Amino acid sequence: MGRRVKVLLIGFGSVGRALAKVIALKRKIINSRYGILIDVVGVADSKGMALKAEGFDEYELLKLCEVPRSGVNLFKPYAHQGVDLNILYSNTQPDVHVELTPSEYTSGEPGLSNIMYAIDRGAHVVTANKAPLVLKYKEIVSRALSRGVRIKFRATVLGGTPFISTLTSMRSHDVERIEGILNATSNFILTEMHEKLVEFTDALKMAQALGIAEADPTLDIDGVDAAAKIVIISNILERPLKIEEINRESISRVSLRDIIDAVRQGYVIKSIASFDVRGGKASIRIAKIPRSELFAQINGVMNGVRIRSDATEVVFIGRGGGGIETAHSVLDDIVSLSFEDS
Ligand SMILES: NC(=O)c1ccc[n+]([C@@H]2O[C@H](COP(=O)([O-])OP(=O)(O)OC[C@H]3O[C@@H](n4cnc5c(N)ncnc54)[C@H](OP(=O)(O)O)[C@@H]3O)[C@@H](O)[C@H]2O)c1
Repeated sequence: MGRRVKVLLIGFGSVGRALAKVIALKRKIINSRYGILIDVVGVADSKGMALKAEGFDEYELLKLCEVPRSGVNLFKPYAHQGVDLNILYSNTQPDVHVELTPSEYTSGEPGLSNIMYAIDRGAHVVTANKAPLVLKYKEIVSRALSRGVRIKFRATVLGGTPFISTLTSMRSHDVERIEGILNATSNFILTEMHEKLVEFTDALKMAQALGIAEADPTLDIDGVDAAAKIVIISNILERPLKIEEINRESISRVSLRDIIDAVRQGYVIKSIASFDVRGGKASIRIAKIPRSELFAQINGVMNGVRIRSDATEVVFIGRGGGGIETAHSVLDDIVSLSFEDS
């Protein structure tokens, strides 16, 4: 048996459930490879929580994934009504708090208070929730530093790839520009418009039917999600931007006529996020990209981003999210935190 790492999952939607499944399937392999035994000791959604100080076994984790949405409080005999972090923490003393609640860009809640609570209780934090970092990156990182814990957030940008890990590891580089397709939903919609020759509203309906777009898709189509990712990148590069400083163009203004005209001229219409690091300026804009260029060929739910530094150019192409991909990024963060501790 390896060293125990006790983990709390706060938020049990698409990513939380995918993570519980991946942990159930891979914890023995991770234990034999790295000598770390990941024990999920508590899980919470908006209505309730389930806790087990000795950790849920693989079977229990898979059964937990079968409870209906908002149904963690039905998971007997471990269930509690309502969410109370005091109860979760006092009963389980977690090593890692995994924050998977919705990204809410006005207040950052409930993720922001949860993350601060975890830090104050001496737990490391892994988050896929962008909003607390977008609103209070500096405060969170300095609070974690002062309490001797770490925060990792690889799932927040191009979550299906190791983009953040690579960017943070480029310590000797002067990163000059970051540019790319950072939102899977808007890229899917634009791809549908090009391939099926449909109007924006029909492509959006298709994205919603496939579960790619939310019932309220505004964060994706108006560029807020992509801008949030640029804010996180800008903080990593120590050139912090505020989300309201980023000029955004919504893909809802792209018509089928625009698409046809662009194609006739040899272009593809994409939503491109760019950050001029030296100039301290960023935007999310609708761009006509020559068909032969790389970004023109990144379609559907794929994302792509180019990092240009004084020394090199690196390109990442991969899934921006998706439950399983994001869960793996979160799990990678949990494992790497546990390594750094040993
Ligand atoms: N999905 C992706 O591919 C992806 C990729 C990268 C990053 N992210 C980010 O990861 C986070 C989770 O995404 P998701 O797709 O899993 O979202 P989701 O399906 O909407 O799940 C959110 C979960 O948070 C729970 N929750 C809401 N308020 C809560 C509270 N006060 N206390 C405890 N739990 C609460 C919800 O409870 P109920 O079940 O009761 O509603 C739900 O279980 C978001 O911040 C998202 O932006 C997602």
